[in-house]
Amino acid sequence: MIERLNHIGIAVEDLEEAIRLYRDVIGLSFQGIEEVPSERVRVAMFQVGDTRIELLQGTGDDSPITKFIAKRGMGVHHLAFCVDDAGAELERLSSSGLRLLDESPRKGAHGTRVVFVHPKSTMGVLTELVEEPK
Ligand code: CO
Repeated sequence: MIERLNHIGIAVEDLEEAIRLYRDVIGLSFQGIEEVPSERVRVAMFQVGDTRIELLQGTGDDSPITKFIAKRGMGVHHLAFCVDDAGAELERLSSSGLRLLDESPRKGAHGTRVVFVHPKSTMGVLTELVEEPK
């Protein structure tokens, strides 16, 4: 059973402008910026209760975020759910016929293990499963 949303990822063109909107106008609690070179993104994190909003800006034309915005415009990019065991969830969803983007869990930020489900299998929403370090 998946019981908690880990974060919502939102693709933005200009991270600084997006931070001003979410921090200063909407009023969310800004936690800082992290760059993830392997994913070619810069991420601004906001804590909202026990979940987070992550604003994502691509760092090059080959970034998945840059490509997403070129195709679909800025907006919600993915949902991430907390799971106990990313490998077991991968097996479970894959055997249910869902198409996954990973053959095994990959390394996420802060020592997490993550798996992505293809949006074609989840009604258009890219879905991430996050296993926090134990
Ligand atoms: Co994410």
